[in-house]
Amino acid sequence: MKTTSSHGLHAASASLCTPYLLLLPLGLLAVLLALPSLGSSYARSQGLGVLCRSAAAGTDGGGGGDYSSSVASGAGDEKKAAVAETPPPPRPELSLLVGVLTVPGRRERRDILRTAYALQPAAPASRVDVRFVFCSVTDPVEAALVAVEARRHGDVLVLDCAENMNDGKTHAYLSSVPRLFASAPYDYVMKTDDDTYLRVAALVAELRPRPRDDVYLGYGFPVGDDPMPFMHGMGYVVSWDVARWVSANGDILRHNDTHGPEDLLVGKWLNIGGRGRNRYDLKPRMYDLNWFMDNFRPDTIAVHMLKDNRRWAATFTYFNVTARIHTNSLP
Ligand SMILES: *[C@@H]1O[C@H](CO)[C@@H](O)[C@H](O)[C@H]1NC(C)=O
Ligand SMILES: *[C@@H]1O[C@H](CO)[C@@H](O)[C@H](O)[C@H]1NC(C)=O
Repeated sequence: MKTTSSHGLHAASASLCTPYLLLLPLGLLAVLLALPSLGSSYARSQGLGVLCRSAAAGTDGGGGGDYSSSVASGAGDEKKAAVAETPPPPRPELSLLVGVLTVPGRRERRDILRTAYALQPAAPASRVDVRFVFCSVTDPVEAALVAVEARRHGDVLVLDCAENMNDGKTHAYLSSVPRLFASAPYDYVMKTDDDTYLRVAALVAELRPRPRDDVYLGYGFPVGDDPMPFMHGMGYVVSWDVARWVSANGDILRHNDTHGPEDLLVGKWLNIGGRGRNRYDLKPRMYDLNWFMDNFRPDTIAVHMLKDNRRWAATFTYFNVTARIHTNSLP
């Protein structure tokens, strides 16, 4: 088992926990919005940052703290000054980019998902960033609404593709990420859906002892008698080198091999290229929620098919997210 735990590339990324790298090619306007200083304070105040904990930041209790803090205007400069004086915190042990593929119209779902991620306990010694992934937003109304959403939450990624599910969006995602995040690479890249509830700490615990390269992990789906399963689209993880390989592999596009079930195709590319040999099947801890909503399990890593609010409510209830919440916010 090859375990490379130190990539020199990461040395500089220790304190870059928050989505300061906000690069937003906004479809119609083709605007490249980089918010190097604002991005950091916006995102930090918005809660997805709570999933991201360096070893040094581990003292900061549960997820609720950051989430409830208000938008800090002008905090950026103070922060910058503080950063200049204090030594950088130790490099986080494990970093993961979670890309939730979604479409502009599913705004309410994203609201639920942001809450779901923000209210989770932090995964210790890790940097986990969540991005909502779109293709180019061509409708001007949707483009404006996605733009303000991006500004408000700092967790949006708009790729250079036409919106689709099985016509290359996953390829656009996996091949763009190594370039967009080149200055602060992650150990792992995940693709997941907006009807999947991911339990981040459980996933990070699963990844921690794994190799950091040539990894392909998820809910394994065998094809015929091929011993190398592909990973179901509800959520799968590849290591950074595998994403880089997809990004650099011109054959995939040359063979027009991006049309069809996206999850099966990823498995096909990797099998042809002999990649993702460290392959891990997380069944039964990743699964589809059944019709009766009675197959939750306490050791869940991801539960999929949360296609309506009733199913999200059942999920929050099962995992005790709603326990002890006082609905009225009183002094
Ligand atoms: C690629 O495949 C799609 C779907 O099968 C097809 O519509 C398209 O014409 C193909 N493009 C090329 C260049 O072969
Ligand atoms: C939710 O809380 C109950 C009561 O404390 C506990 O028995 C149960 O194991 C918890 N469920 C999960 C999924 O942690």
